[in-house]
Amino acid sequence: MNSKTPNDSLTIVTDLVLPSETNPIGNMFGGELLARMDRAASISARRHSRRIVVTVSVNHVAFNKMIPLGSVVTVEAKVSRAFKTSMEIYMDVWIEDRESGLRTRANEAIYTFVAVDEMGTPVAVPRLTPETKLEKERFEAALRRRQLSLLLAGKIKPDEASELRALFN
Ligand SMILES: CC(C)(COP(=O)(O)OP(=O)(O)OC[C@H]1O[C@@H](n2cnc3c(N)ncnc32)[C@H](O)[C@@H]1OP(=O)(O)O)[C@@H](O)C(=O)NCCC(=O)NCCS
Repeated sequence: MNSKTPNDSLTIVTDLVLPSETNPIGNMFGGELLARMDRAASISARRHSRRIVVTVSVNHVAFNKMIPLGSVVTVEAKVSRAFKTSMEIYMDVWIEDRESGLRTRANEAIYTFVAVDEMGTPVAVPRLTPETKLEKERFEAALRRRQLSLLLAGKIKPDEASELRALFN
């Protein structure tokens, strides 16, 4: 199976924050952003695998900045590492200043998707070859994140999380 680059799965979704998507103090609901990120990540995983994909885990989400009503929000998603049937998707969330057009990084998130066939059975995906320095860093760290996620889900034992354990040695 051919190898792909993170740019092959690049997905950029830009949309406004509307009144129905905000909390009582006028900022975007976390759940609304999670849903937008899930859609962007799903398109990215589909572009990498060209398969049906399902979310298996939300590994990390950081809501670092409030996103006010009326903001223009951009979710940028790319596959950061592909394993056998699963793919880690790394997302950066940007908000755009109305007057200057300058973008500020507001949030980030990491989701894992699995490619499946029509029966929902996991199927193999292409390998990923990172190109830029940032893509290479995210690729390396993805193995530790996968081990942590599998450990927390009770799917592997601490002895099997060797890369993760190495961080504490
Ligand atoms: C995703 C799903 C098909 C996986 O099936 P499964 O029988 O658990 O399959 P496996 O154990 O072989 O896992 C498949 C892959 O997912 C990975 N995986 C499973 N749980 C994971 C977790 N918590 N974190 C990270 N990766 C995980 C496995 O490591 C494996 O990856 P690999 O093939 O690249 O090594 C199945 O759990 C499912 O259908 N879940 C529901 C998905 C869904 O509906 N999502 C939307 C929720 S509303």
